[in-house]
Amino acid sequence: MAEARIIGLGACLPEQVVTNADLEKRIDTTDAWIRERTGIEQRHIAKDGETTCDLAEGAAREALAAAGVDPSELDLIVVGTTTPDVIFPSTACLLQDRLGAKDCPAFDVNAACTGFIYALSVAEKYLKSGAVKTALVVGAETLSRMLDWNDRGTCVLFGDGAGAVVLRADQRQGIISTHIHANGSYRHLLHNPVGVSAGFKDEPNHGVRVMMAGNEVFRVAVRTLARIVDETLDAAGLDKSAIDWLIPHQANLRIIKATAEHLKMPMERVVVTVNKHGNTSAGSVPLALHHGVRNGQVQEGQLLLLEAFGGGFTWGSALVRL
Ligand code: ACO
Repeated sequence: MAEARIIGLGACLPEQVVTNADLEKRIDTTDAWIRERTGIEQRHIAKDGETTCDLAEGAAREALAAAGVDPSELDLIVVGTTTPDVIFPSTACLLQDRLGAKDCPAFDVNAACTGFIYALSVAEKYLKSGAVKTALVVGAETLSRMLDWNDRGTCVLFGDGAGAVVLRADQRQGIISTHIHANGSYRHLLHNPVGVSAGFKDEPNHGVRVMMAGNEVFRVAVRTLARIVDETLDAAGLDKSAIDWLIPHQANLRIIKATAEHLKMPMERVVVTVNKHGNTSAGSVPLALHHGVRNGQVQEGQLLLLEAFGGGFTWGSALVRL
């Protein structure tokens, strides 16, 4: 059986930065509250007309260039997103066209903040089965488009961005394992309650907005992420000490610290970008991975534990030898 190695990484963030001080001017919040409760200092927000596919394309082009792969070599494109440009075609199809990658399968995966891990898991299976040789996996979002900018409980948390990886079938170990789960009975705690089939509302933005019971999401997230990291280590027969870097979903610094504590990992071995990016949903894990590699923290050959948790609820992890 082939292995699936990451051979290129890319990232793309909108130029526009919105700081906590900017939000203080618009809603009843403070920089101190946002920093203390979440660790967030700023987030990038797409300008008018800038779409999820624009960000996905920026990240994908950087990942392809880093890998030395021409788009025509791609056998598969999977995009994790919950904020597609349009209902259809999928963002992956739009991206395929922009890149000039011809005829390969291209589809989106909607698993909210776990979207990138889900997409990576799909690509891993195709690569390891021998069905494809080269795959592009992207996590891309413009969550800002579905926020209620008057709801201080949600709008301060999110940002826009995309990260991408190019994967290639190889003899050497890369993606060691992926683990994905969902429990739809928690759907009401974090959701966007309107849509094509359920219908839209006669409200601002047609009723499109993220609704979240933050406290309850927080508690389940901490518990569930502890379980998924244990599941991942058990499956590999590894001790916590074997992990070089934790690359967590960037929703809240307190959730990240709780998972690091569970792993007995010092924060020096955890990649943190939530302060600068906020929660970019499916973009968050690949953006953090890219950040860790580009600034020289995360090195080739090291063992990485990627994890995420999001609406659904969905959750997942990937054990990766870089
Ligand atoms: N500024 C100032 N005060 C605020 C703000 C704000 N932006 N937001 C809420 N408050 C107030 C509340 O109204 C409340 O006031 P009250 O006590 O007078 O009622 C108080 O602050 C405490 O609110 P809590 O919601 O209890 O605050 P908490 O410490 O739980 O932090 C937070 C809220 C940051 C949302 C946290 O619960 C959290 O991070 N939850 C998890 C989010 C997450 O991980 N989501 C998963 C992924 S998202 C996805 O899948 C799309």
